[in-house]
Amino acid sequence: MPSDPTLGDPLVARLRRGLAAMPLDHRFAAVGSLVALGGMLIMGALVSSRIETGVVRNSAISSAVYMESFIAPLSQELATSETFRPETIAHMRELLDQPPLSERIISAKIWRKGGLLAFSSDADLIGATLEPGENLQRAWAGDLTAEFDELEGSENLRERATGMPLLEVYNPIHSIITGEVIAVAEFYLNATELRDDLRRAHLTAWGVVAAVSLATFLALFGIVRAGSRTIDRQNRELTRRIAELARISAQNEALRDRVQAASRSASETNERYMRRISAELHDGPAQALALASLRLDSLMQRSGVPADTAEAGELRVALDEALRDVRDLCHGLALPELEGRSVADTLELAVRAHERRTGGSVARGPIPAGPLEGPAPHPTLICIYRFVQEGLMNAYRHGGGKGVRVAAAAEGGRLRVTVADAGGGFEPGGARRGPGLGLAGLRQRIESIGGEFQVKSEPGKGTLLTMELPYEDRS
Ligand SMILES: Nc1ncnc2c1ncn2[C@@H]1O[C@H](COP(=O)(O)OP(=O)(O)OP(=O)(O)O)[C@@H](O)[C@H]1O
Ligand SMILES: [Mg+2]
Repeated sequence: MPSDPTLGDPLVARLRRGLAAMPLDHRFAAVGSLVALGGMLIMGALVSSRIETGVVRNSAISSAVYMESFIAPLSQELATSETFRPETIAHMRELLDQPPLSERIISAKIWRKGGLLAFSSDADLIGATLEPGENLQRAWAGDLTAEFDELEGSENLRERATGMPLLEVYNPIHSIITGEVIAVAEFYLNATELRDDLRRAHLTAWGVVAAVSLATFLALFGIVRAGSRTIDRQNRELTRRIAELARISAQNEALRDRVQAASRSASETNERYMRRISAELHDGPAQALALASLRLDSLMQRSGVPADTAEAGELRVALDEALRDVRDLCHGLALPELEGRSVADTLELAVRAHERRTGGSVARGPIPAGPLEGPAPHPTLICIYRFVQEGLMNAYRHGGGKGVRVAAAAEGGRLRVTVADAGGGFEPGGARRGPGLGLAGLRQRIESIGGEFQVKSEPGKGTLLTMELPYEDRS
């Protein structure tokens, strides 16, 4: 059974992916509202707990001061005795049962050290020893402690039974002579008013915190939303420009391909014209000159002109030179048939033709056999042949034919052919370049079909011509 790929996907990762897909302002709204809500809860809880502590404490202090004025004088006898005398207990009860104390105090206890109850509004508890609670112990250390509405422990049964909100206060009672804590008064105040005050304070605190959090969130959201819209607009603009650039680049590429194709076909047409001109020269003027040379001899014989006269000699030399020039022209103009041949063959043909014409010798290599032996496109072969032909002719004419070498390599979809010589060299960019068109023509021919042409030469350091073409190894 195929398993559901989302099952193993942890929720967090899915949430993160969902968030990443949202626009920036939505992401901010989602995450920011959670953070603002969390912050608001923490801040609200903190503020209202501080308010509660403050209000409760203030109320406890004022009540303690009030209580002390009644109870402290009576409690002084605990400085010398462990318990109260029965008259004192009766007096205290009387005080607590009459206004104004009875209106505020619900119950009271007076503790001795160790948890003995010296007095309690609940008469049954007087004389009992109970485990001292935390607040009681803190009061023995001299602190006034107060708690609102938290009635725990068996000694608080009576207070819980009242059902009203109570403020529980533990107040240390000091000896007026030594200043020592001689007892702790625990009393419970009717805190209905305090509870209402606290509710109002809580409400106000939460309201203020919520309003501040909301205002902060909305202000930030406004900023993020404006930023997000700007980013979106810029993104759209960028995408539009990239698409436009891609379209222009594709158009340029198509145009370049068309130009290169046109250039390749022009080069082929050119070669066909040149071959035709060469054939015309060969069959026309060359044949006529050869015939004229033969006829001249027979004419001279028949007319009794001696063959060794200076004039006859000059005439023959002139005719022979004209014939040689025309034949040279024919050879230079016409390419051998290259269609269907390989790069290696074409190189060899060009080198051999040069050797035949000049009688010099040209070193080959390195020319890797494998990648250059498959059939190559006709325009590529024409370009290679013309490059080698011109390079070798320059090496012969201007470099004295010294150290001439033809090499080739094919790698990374490019074919590189070089013609080098160890002749006198020249300054390729120099002003003393002659009116020749060979190198300029080569550059144009190679670059027009998407290749690169480079001349490296220095006076006295030989010359290196390099051509590179895109090349697909079809061997
Ligand atoms: N291998 C070389 N060694 C020394 N100088 C060279 C070499 N190749 C070219 N040059 C110099 O560069 C010049 C330009 O060469 P380019 O082939 O363009 O013209 P050209 O050979 O003089 O004439 P064309 O090729 O048109 O018959 C040459 O005249 C020559 O001064
Ligand atoms: Mg030249």
